[in-house]
Amino acid sequence: MPCLARVRAGARPSACAGARPGAWAGGRASMAAMTMTKTKVVALGNQKGGVGKTTTTVNLAAALAGRGLRVLVGDLDPQCNATTTLDPVLGSYTLAEVLDVDPRTREVVPGSAAAAIVPSSEAWPAGLDVLPASPALAVREQDTWDGREHRLARACEGVLGGYDAVLWDLPPNIGQMTVNGLVAADEAWLVTDPTRYGLDGLALVMGAIDRVQRYHHPGLLVGGIVINMHEPAREEPKLRAAEIRSLYGDLVYGEDQPRSEVLRKAAGAAAPVAAYGYEGREAAARLDRLAETVIGKAA
Ligand SMILES: Nc1ncnc2c1ncn2[C@@H]1O[C@H](COP(=O)(O)OP(=O)(O)O)[C@@H](O)[C@H]1O
Ligand SMILES: [Mg+2]
Repeated sequence: MPCLARVRAGARPSACAGARPGAWAGGRASMAAMTMTKTKVVALGNQKGGVGKTTTTVNLAAALAGRGLRVLVGDLDPQCNATTTLDPVLGSYTLAEVLDVDPRTREVVPGSAAAAIVPSSEAWPAGLDVLPASPALAVREQDTWDGREHRLARACEGVLGGYDAVLWDLPPNIGQMTVNGLVAADEAWLVTDPTRYGLDGLALVMGAIDRVQRYHHPGLLVGGIVINMHEPAREEPKLRAAEIRSLYGDLVYGEDQPRSEVLRKAAGAAAPVAAYGYEGREAAARLDRLAETVIGKAA
């Protein structure tokens, strides 16, 4: 994966430049342990980029793994941000190869996702695995053969049962990978910033969810909408957050995540915000409560 190797190599220097908090120091003892009877599969999306989908996904995953759950993050975005943040040692495959359709059968190999799954780096809690992306995943958008919406679900057949929670980090579009993530999920959660563009992105993903429910996966639920990067003291975010609540009502999760420097630092250091001790405690606590809600609704 030469391209991915470049992305990863690029991530290293900044991660090592002093901000990296080291191995996961958060404990299971500090949080109530959770148990699950069934795998919960959640897709996190918004058609707009930069709203915090990946940040929310990886930190939710850390919160769940920190409670003793077995968690898989599937990176469905060729930008690979979840992959480079969870910073695994890659094997021979990424999701791009897993979803490569065999021209003879016009299918992917059922269960083949298992070959690409790797553990996250030691900065993250144990039990957090990654189904990594690579830039080559962009080519999978060009799959035009029948059944293209179900490739991910098929490649994951028999694989997800080993996890308590699976989180799909969707790309900032409503193309094939977003549709595949929605088809392979129990529940969709939307993340947005309180901006006009974020609102437009939400509407587009809601439309995609509606089509997936109609044509591919009638059982898909919408779990909720998380407002991220909120600045409640400012006029425009306050107005847009109110607009989101008036449009989507109870679907909007009650506790917004404020814009905070520590979340950006954690992303830059390829580490969970919970590893930032006192500085990260408020953001981590919010994500921990969100994790409880996300998992609770789907169990
Ligand atoms: N609550 C927040 N406060 C401050 N920065 C944030 C917050 N959430 C995300 N970010 C930062 O915003 C940028 C975009 O976030 P990211 O998770 O990559 O968005 P997306 O996956 O939607 O494109 C990143 O630099 C990330 O660190
Ligand atoms: Mg992202």
